[in-house]
Amino acid sequence: MKKLIRILSALTLLGACANPTPQEFHVIPMPATVNLSDGTFCVKGAAVNCDENMDEASVNAVLRFVNSLETATGKKCKLAEGGISFAKNHSLAPEQYVIDITPEAVRVQASALNGFVYACETLKQMLPAAIYGDKAVKADWVLPCAHIEDQPRFAYRGMHLDPCRHFFSIEETKRYLDVMTAYKLNRFHWHLTEDQGWRMEVKAYPRLTEIGAWRNGTVIKKDWGSNDGIRYGGFYTQEEMKEIVAYAAERGITVIPEIDLPGHMVAALAAYPELGCTGGPYEVWTRWGVAPDILCAGNEEVYKFLETVLTEAMEIFPSEYIHIGGDEAFNEEMGIPWDHCPKCAAKMRELGIKKGPMAKHYLQNYVTARMQDFLNQHGRKIIGWDEVLEGNLAPGATVMSWRGVKGGIEAANKGFDAIMTPNSYLYFDYYQSHERDKEPFGIGGYLPVEKVYSYEPFEGLTPAAQKHILGVQANLWTEYIATPEHLEYMLLPRMCALSEIQWCAADKKDYARFDASIDHSFEMFDAMGLTYCMDNRGLIGLDREPARTPEELEQYLKENPRSW
Ligand code: ACM
Ligand code: ZN
Repeated sequence: MKKLIRILSALTLLGACANPTPQEFHVIPMPATVNLSDGTFCVKGAAVNCDENMDEASVNAVLRFVNSLETATGKKCKLAEGGISFAKNHSLAPEQYVIDITPEAVRVQASALNGFVYACETLKQMLPAAIYGDKAVKADWVLPCAHIEDQPRFAYRGMHLDPCRHFFSIEETKRYLDVMTAYKLNRFHWHLTEDQGWRMEVKAYPRLTEIGAWRNGTVIKKDWGSNDGIRYGGFYTQEEMKEIVAYAAERGITVIPEIDLPGHMVAALAAYPELGCTGGPYEVWTRWGVAPDILCAGNEEVYKFLETVLTEAMEIFPSEYIHIGGDEAFNEEMGIPWDHCPKCAAKMRELGIKKGPMAKHYLQNYVTARMQDFLNQHGRKIIGWDEVLEGNLAPGATVMSWRGVKGGIEAANKGFDAIMTPNSYLYFDYYQSHERDKEPFGIGGYLPVEKVYSYEPFEGLTPAAQKHILGVQANLWTEYIATPEHLEYMLLPRMCALSEIQWCAADKKDYARFDASIDHSFEMFDAMGLTYCMDNRGLIGLDREPARTPEELEQYLKENPRSW
C-alpha cells in the first residue's frame, strides 16, 4: 500500500509533465553558447519569481512570459520562490543573458530589460510552439536542461516598414513588432512620409494629414499607367504613434521615425504647395517611382516647416536617431525643379555652389547639414540613405547603405558610421522564388531565404572600417503589398534569416542548422496566426502550390524572362 502511495504521489508530482520529450533545440537566432544536458524542467504551473532589484519594465516582460505560459499550458503559475527565477546580474551587458535549466529550477540572469526580454524569447522558442498561441494546448511543457550564455553580434538590429505606399494599422504594426521581438530585433525603422501618402499627424501643419494622407487612386496590379480610382489613405495620430513607441519600448525596441527629405515629399507639397519650387498645384502621387517634385531648397519657409515637423517628431519619438531620408531626390529624366528655380539659384549663389553636375548634390548637402545641425542641437543624430554621401556629408551622420553594399563601405572607409541594408540581400519586397506566376507580387528581383542568410556585413571592409558598422536592417517597401497577409508573407521567414545575420557571430552561422530549425518557426507562425512563405520547402506562393520540376522551371523561365 505504501509503495502504491509512493508511486501515486510521484505521478502527481510529475503531473502533466510525465514522460516528457523536450523539443529539439531550434532557437533562432542561435544563442552564442548552448550546453544541453539530460533531464527536463516542467513549466506547467511552475512557480515564477523576480528578484527585488529588477526594474518595472523587466518584471513586466517576465509577466508577459508568465501570461503566455498560463494561456498555453492552461495552468496558473504561482508567483513564488523556486521554479523559474529571474535575477539581476550587473556584470552582464544590457542585451546579454544567461539561462541555467536543471530538473529542479530555471535561473535567468540579465542586467537590463533587453536581456530579460531575450531570455524569455529563448525560453519560449525552447517550448512547444503553442506557447505563441492564445489557447490551452496539451503538449510536453518541458524545457531541456541546459546552460545558455548569449549576446548579440550587432547593437543595431533593424526592420523597416513603409506604411505610406500601403497603410498598416496600429494593430497590424504591433503584430509586426511582436514578430520582431520573437527574433530579438531592437530597431523599428518607421518610414512615415512619402509621395503617395503622409502618415504622421503634425499639429502645426494639419493639412499634411487632411490632404497629404489621401491619394486619388492606386496603380492597378503592376500596370504603372493605370489607376483604380479609389481614394486611399490613412494616418497615425500622435497618441497612436506614442502607443507604438511604448509598445516597442516594453519589448526592447526603439522606434526610429523617417521624415524623408528633400525628395519623396509630394504628399506634403499637395498639402502646402508653397513649399515647392513652382508653387504647384500638386496632387498626392498616384504612381510609383521617383517623383520629380521636391521641396524648394531656397525658401526659408521650407526650413521652418522641416524644423517644426522634426520638433513634433522628437516629442513623439525619444530615439537617439531620426532618419532624414535623402534618397532619390532627383529624377533626371523628368527634370529637376532646383535647376529652374530662382530661389534655389539664389541659395546656390549664397553658398558659392558653382553650376555643374555636382551642384544639386552640394545643395542637398546643405539641406541635410541644416537638419543635422538642428537635430544635433536637440541631442539627436541623423541617419540618411546612402545618397547623402554624394558631395560632402558633414561629420557625425550615419549612412544607411541600400544601393548594394558600396555606400556602406565608402561611408565606413571615410569614418562615418553605417547601417547595412543592401537591396541585393535585404529588400524583402523582392520575390522569393523564380516562379513569379505563383507568388504574390514582388517589386522584382529574386531573394530567397538562403540568399538573405548568406549575407556577411563585414565583407569588403578593413578591421578599422568594420568598427563603423553599427548593424544590419532589412527593408520592406509596400508598393505592391496591400494586405497584412501579403506583408507577413514577404517578411517571413526571411526576417528569421536576418536575425541570425544580426545576432550570431559569423562562425556560428550554419544554413543547414538554420534550415532544420525553420519548421519550428513555421509552427510558431501558425500559432500566432501569421502568413508566411514556404518556397524553401518547394511550396510556392500564398496558395502553396508545388514548385515546378527543374525541367518545367527552365521552360517557364525561357517563356517568362525576368526583368530586374
Ligand atoms: C530606397 O529604397 N529608396 C531607400
Ligand atoms: Zn526652389
